[in-house]
Amino acid sequence: MMPVNEAIIQAKSLLDDGDVVGLPTETVYGLAARIDIPSAIEKIFTTKERPFFDPLIVHVASIAQAKMVTSHWGPTAEALAKAFWPGPLTMVLPKASSVNPMITSGLESVGIRMPNHPLALELLREVGVPLAAPSANKFGRTSPTSASHVRVEFKKENVFVLDGGECQIGIESTVLLVKEKEGKATLSILRRGHILKSDIESVLKAKGLDFEFVETTDKKESPGHMKHHYMPSVPLILCLDKTISPESLLSEVNKKLSQMPDEIESIKIVKPAGGIHTYQKLELSSDPVLATRELYSRLRETAAQGKDCIIFYREDHQYSERWESLFDRLNKAASLIV
Ligand code: TXA
Ligand code: MG
Repeated sequence: MMPVNEAIIQAKSLLDDGDVVGLPTETVYGLAARIDIPSAIEKIFTTKERPFFDPLIVHVASIAQAKMVTSHWGPTAEALAKAFWPGPLTMVLPKASSVNPMITSGLESVGIRMPNHPLALELLREVGVPLAAPSANKFGRTSPTSASHVRVEFKKENVFVLDGGECQIGIESTVLLVKEKEGKATLSILRRGHILKSDIESVLKAKGLDFEFVETTDKKESPGHMKHHYMPSVPLILCLDKTISPESLLSEVNKKLSQMPDEIESIKIVKPAGGIHTYQKLELSSDPVLATRELYSRLRETAAQGKDCIIFYREDHQYSERWESLFDRLNKAASLIV
C-alpha cells in the first residue's frame, strides 16, 4: 500500500485534474469529484452508470464550507451540524446558486455532509473545495465498505482509491430534509441511517428549537429512492417466516421470480435464467451496530460463494428502531420478500 501522505497527494492531483477518486468515509466509500469542475461531476455519473435524476451529496470539511453551498443556514442546521458533524447525517437544504444543477439533478435543494473519516477530512482540506460523492458502486448495486470493493467495482475504469480501511458504520448516512420558515423547522427523513429520528429530536429539544417531523411521499423532493437498490450479484430472498424451510422457500421463489419483470425503475432485478436450486444463508451479528457494519461485505462474500441465491431469515429480535436502517437496505436489496 502507498504511504498515506503520497496517497493524499495523488488523490488531490487527480481531483484537481478533473478526475474521480474513491473516497473513504465512515459510512461507505464514495466516488468523489470537485464540485467546481463540471466534466468531473459528469464523470461520476458516467462511471457509476447513474441516471442524472439522482442527486449527489456534497462533502465538506467545515461548517464554513457548508454555508457556501447553501442559501439558507438557520438555527436547525447549525444545531444539527454541531451535534452530528463530522458524522453520518446529510442535510438537504436550499442550494446556493453557485452549485452546479447537475449535482442536485435540477432541484433547488442540495444534500450536504461532513464525513467522519480522518483521510476524507484531510483530502477535503487539501483540495480546499467541497467534493460531490455518491456511493462508489455501479447504480443500484451493493455499496462498498472497503477500498478493494471499489477497485473491483471499477476495475475497467481503473479508479484510484484512497485506502482508509473498513468503514465503521457500514451503511449510507441518514438523509434529512430541513425546511425552515418563520422560526419553525419542518423535517423529513428521506433515507434512514445510523442517526435516528430520536437522536435528532433530542438535540433540537435540548436547544429549545421549534420543529415537526412530516413524512414526504413527494418523489420530486426525494429522487433516487427506488423500490430496489443495493442488489448483490445473485438474488437475495428475504424470508419473514421462520417456519418455512429453505426447500419450500426455493420452490415458491422459482414460481414468483419467473413472473417478475426484468427491470423495475431502471434497476435490473437479479434473477438467474435457469432457476434457483442452491442457496447460501446470510449470517449477521446479533448486535445491530455490528450487523450494519458488516452487512454489505457479508452480502458480497455470500454472493461470491457460487450458489444460486442468498436466503436471509428475519429474526424476532430484529424489529427495534436500531434495526430499521439495516432492513431498509435489505428490503431493497432483496429480489423477493416472502
Ligand atoms: O453516507 C453517504 O451518504 C454516502 C457517502 C459516500 O457519503 N453517500 C451516498 O450517496 O450514499 P448516494 O449518491 O449513494 O446517495 C445520495 C442520496 C440520493 O440518492 C438522494 O436520495 C439523496 O441522497 N439526496 C442527495 N441530494 C438530495 C437532494 N437535494 N434532495 C433530496 N435528496 C437528495
Ligand atoms: Mg448509493
